[in-house]
Amino acid sequence: MKGIILAGGMATRLRPLTLVTNKHLLPIYNKPMIFFALEAMRKAGIREVLLTSSADHSGHFANLLKGGEEFGLRLYFAIQENPKGGIAEAISLAEEFAGNGSVLVILGDNIFSHDLKKTVESFRKTESGAVVFGVHRNTDSRQYGVIEIDTTGKVLSIEEKPEHPKSDIAQTGIYMYDRNVFSHIRTLKPSSRGELEVTDLNNIYLKLGKLRCEIIDWWVDAGTSYDELLAANIHVSELVHRGKL
Ligand code: DAU
Repeated sequence: MKGIILAGGMATRLRPLTLVTNKHLLPIYNKPMIFFALEAMRKAGIREVLLTSSADHSGHFANLLKGGEEFGLRLYFAIQENPKGGIAEAISLAEEFAGNGSVLVILGDNIFSHDLKKTVESFRKTESGAVVFGVHRNTDSRQYGVIEIDTTGKVLSIEEKPEHPKSDIAQTGIYMYDRNVFSHIRTLKPSSRGELEVTDLNNIYLKLGKLRCEIIDWWVDAGTSYDELLAANIHVSELVHRGKL
């Protein structure tokens, strides 16, 4: 299984912080945001990772991360020419890199401490279907994908930024896909905001009866707002002071 980290997009919600730099290079307490996704890959047992970003910023990532040795990874870079092409479009850039195997995708602005190793290991055994990771939020979940599950944990629906959320479970930016992901992406149409949506991709697996959801505990999408960015900084500083990170 190979890894894909997405570090493109426009980051308009964090302007002016992101006017001249890439969101994923902003600090989260003591390190750049992107380090968290790289460390999560390494902890999960992934060794080869493709990082996608815009042409403007990929040199910044190369300067900072080099070949990935510091993280115990072998790092590759791909350019997403349209920064608003969508998460599924960015994933499609990894088709050759994935070499007909399964992939673990992490959005570069997601900060979490959950260890993905167990799920990666069990996914590797079957290499079939897809896994999404959800988190219970007590704040407004309308800014996320929202996952509805039944009492047995079966996924009933996933909706992107719904006006009336069917649950309090936000879809995180952590996904596992089997080798069919690239052919599924080819069938997607741009959404009303002009993007190939990861939620549409996950709904294909849901319709095929091949989607699982795991609930994790602490997670922040640090790219959503100044408040979420601040929350990520505070939480990480507490973990560092308690010797947990
Ligand atoms: O973080 C979780 C949320 O991420 C999910 O709940 C949503 O279902 C999912 O659509 C996504 O929503 P966002 O509105 O947060 O996506 P955003 O545009 O902020 O992009 C998320 C990450 O993906 C960010 O690190 C930038 C990267 N990205 C995004 C787009 C649209 C790319 O690399 N290329 C892109 O074209």
